[in-house]
Amino acid sequence: QELQMNLEQIEKGGYDHFMLKEIYEQPNAIVDTYRGRMLVDKGIIRMAGVDDNIEKFTNAKRIIIVACGTSWHAGLVAEYIFEDIARIPVEVEYASEFRYRNPIINKNDVVIAISQSGETADTMAAIKLAKEKGAFVFGVCNVVGSSISRETHAGAYTHAGPEIGVASTKAFTTQITVLSLIALKLAKAKGEINNADFHYHLQELDLIPGKIKKALEANDHIKEVAKKYMNAANFLYLGRGFNFPVALEGALKLKEISYIHAEGYPAAEMKHGPIALIDEKMPVVVIATKKGHYEKVVSNIQEIKSREGRIIGIVTEGDEDVRSMANYVIEVPDTIEAFTPLLTTIPLQLLSYHIAVMLNKNVDQPRNLAKSVTVE
Ligand code: G6P
Repeated sequence: QELQMNLEQIEKGGYDHFMLKEIYEQPNAIVDTYRGRMLVDKGIIRMAGVDDNIEKFTNAKRIIIVACGTSWHAGLVAEYIFEDIARIPVEVEYASEFRYRNPIINKNDVVIAISQSGETADTMAAIKLAKEKGAFVFGVCNVVGSSISRETHAGAYTHAGPEIGVASTKAFTTQITVLSLIALKLAKAKGEINNADFHYHLQELDLIPGKIKKALEANDHIKEVAKKYMNAANFLYLGRGFNFPVALEGALKLKEISYIHAEGYPAAEMKHGPIALIDEKMPVVVIATKKGHYEKVVSNIQEIKSREGRIIGIVTEGDEDVRSMANYVIEVPDTIEAFTPLLTTIPLQLLSYHIAVMLNKNVDQPRNLAKSVTVE
């Protein structure tokens, strides 16, 4: 028993929980994801699984992404990135809905299945269906040699290393990294991006691990925020554009490990329902980085404030406007819009982690949840 405990301590590498360790591993995990693939100086992205099938990708009329849980959220972020950078229409589907719906799949559709474990039964079933209908199926998995990585026609591993905590963290950010590389590669192959812009994206992606380190430095401040709101019964998470899926993921993280009810919403949809819930007891986490729809998000924040909602803003370093309105702000470094999810996700992971710890919940093994769901 004692030996077992010691082994676990060693595996956690000095952290109290696997989840925290995995959150802190993200800068290195992302480097592991792009190492050998992204050659910044040469301005090249090499990915055998994509290179060998480049025509399937460039001829694709659309990409269908299938996944579950956090991987589905990574798929939603990828939808914004693929459409924005590579100009390919993307549909993102819950694997469990897709397979039971007699979906329309054409021969020149590319299906991308995303799965950390590579064992999720619903995702596997969706892959089999897509293959039967003649689609080319590409896997984005973390676990090497997993069932899904073997069942797909080709793929790219995330190389995040083992993820033990049930709540997915580094798998999510490395999935987004792999999908960003693919989107950039296709944008180049299709002539949708010029060389200078392509190069600029590579340089920015290369800066992300350092910027995640910087975002992690807010940990003590985030602990204070957690302490303040740990007893709330509900949380709302809002984001727009590339950061709408991050809002969903932030809410999922909180639900999974703290058992506090949380909902993620596109910020502009707030007025169609969730605004009715806002009062002085409701913490609202708003992702308001200085990009895209910043002004619109600021006006959403004003609406929350006038209803006395408590505002936790996730903002770009140096932001003044949101700071003047919010109860708390948590800063992340600036980057190009497509990569902001890789940074804004970090404080949300830490916030849910600290709330769960303060509530004495079993962070690494939350009740009723499994790391990989092999039943349909
Ligand atoms: C389970 C896990 C989630 C995960 C989902 C999909 O619900 O608890 O963390 O996101 O399955 O898993 P996959 O391995 O396919 O990414």
